Amino acid sequence: MQAWDVIVIGAGAAGLMCAAEAGKRGRRVLVLDHGKRIGRKILMSGGGRCNFTNYQVEPKAFLCANPHFVKSALARYTQWDFIALVDKHRIAFHEKTLGQLFCDDSAQNIVDMLVKECEQAGVSIRLRAEIMEVDRLGEGFMVATHGEAYSCHSLVVATGGLSMPKIGASPFGYRLAEQFGLRVLPTRAGLVPFTLQPEDKASLEPLAGVSLPVVAESEDGTRFAENLLFTHRGLSGPAVLQISSYWQPGERVCFELLPAGRLAEGVADSPNQELKTWLGRQLPKRLVEALLTREGLVNKPLKQYTPRELAAIEERLTAWSLKPGGTEGYRTAEVTLGGVDTHELSSKTMMATKVPNLYFVGEVMDVTGWLGGYNFQWAWSSGWCAGQVV
Ligand code: FDA
Repeated sequence: MQAWDVIVIGAGAAGLMCAAEAGKRGRRVLVLDHGKRIGRKILMSGGGRCNFTNYQVEPKAFLCANPHFVKSALARYTQWDFIALVDKHRIAFHEKTLGQLFCDDSAQNIVDMLVKECEQAGVSIRLRAEIMEVDRLGEGFMVATHGEAYSCHSLVVATGGLSMPKIGASPFGYRLAEQFGLRVLPTRAGLVPFTLQPEDKASLEPLAGVSLPVVAESEDGTRFAENLLFTHRGLSGPAVLQISSYWQPGERVCFELLPAGRLAEGVADSPNQELKTWLGRQLPKRLVEALLTREGLVNKPLKQYTPRELAAIEERLTAWSLKPGGTEGYRTAEVTLGGVDTHELSSKTMMATKVPNLYFVGEVMDVTGWLGGYNFQWAWSSGWCAGQVV
């Protein structure tokens, strides 16, 4: 049996960061991954340019049943630390919107950077390694793959969430947590497009391709000002992806298509204009057509509406609400909500408090960030923290 100080399962964002940090401390580190490529999600991320962090990382941008959990790691390894690493590797990047940082060239730059950091720290990486069994061995662990058995003092689980099974996502980390008696919170797809109820699909499908800025609001009052995109399958765009993480099946979602008060301004400024013409100057024309039919709005000059009618129209446009049929699920979701309960882990080291020397980093745990580089920042921060102690 080969002996290692540290075995990291998962050569993704969190696993590679953890491995490089542990290697720098002189630990003999082995990374095992069942995939045939390193960092596959990184390569796909941000449309191939990897939105690797955000200028405005703050704890409120993370969903977790234990909301204070993220604070320590995010404060110890910040977005500025990761940006310094990116600068050290001379990777050019830019801010796209809302503090989101993307590579100018390709997400491959980030994978190459992590691999280089691992190489310089003497880390070994083995791909196509199917893990068959993990067991306690003294104070450490035994890990058996198809062909080999390894022992280690510290075991780091960095196997990510369930989204995109086609590129290697698996429930391995959850099952391993359960094997060692740790609680796993129910999982569901996050940052994911909505599908529609059949009746909504019929009226909204012709809008595929229409995009507009809105404020999306979930039933718990969470709001995101971003773009809404109508697709052939349902609703997408950043506003929808963001609010999907706060949505539960059966709930409604509200979209502010027009800011409150805008219609009253229209009545004052253009009283002779018909509603349809006036709305066509505020919103995409195809959407206006669909809304008039769908919401049964009578078209006439703005001055001819009674205050009550105007209030009803205003209500429809400032709080356009529908009940999604569901989500597109893990097939297209960017992240998985839920996972290993952080109450079971140390917020400083990511070690399972009940199982010494067993660590969980990255998305496998119940920490999910907003869209915009937050999920990678969690992978870097949690991986770095574990890397200091494993
Ligand atoms: P990650 O999923 O990166 O790595 C897990 C690794 O474990 C994989 O290499 C996998 O093969 C391996 N593994 C799984 N099961 C195993 C098993 N049984 N045995 C061995 N190995 C196993 N976030 C962000 O901040 N900015 C962005 O731009 C994007 N964009 C984006 C696009 C798309 C299409 C997706 C699907 C996701 C994003 N994300 C994102 C989310 C981000 O990719 C995600 O949160 C991180 O990759 C999580 O990092 P981890 O290291 O935890 O898991």
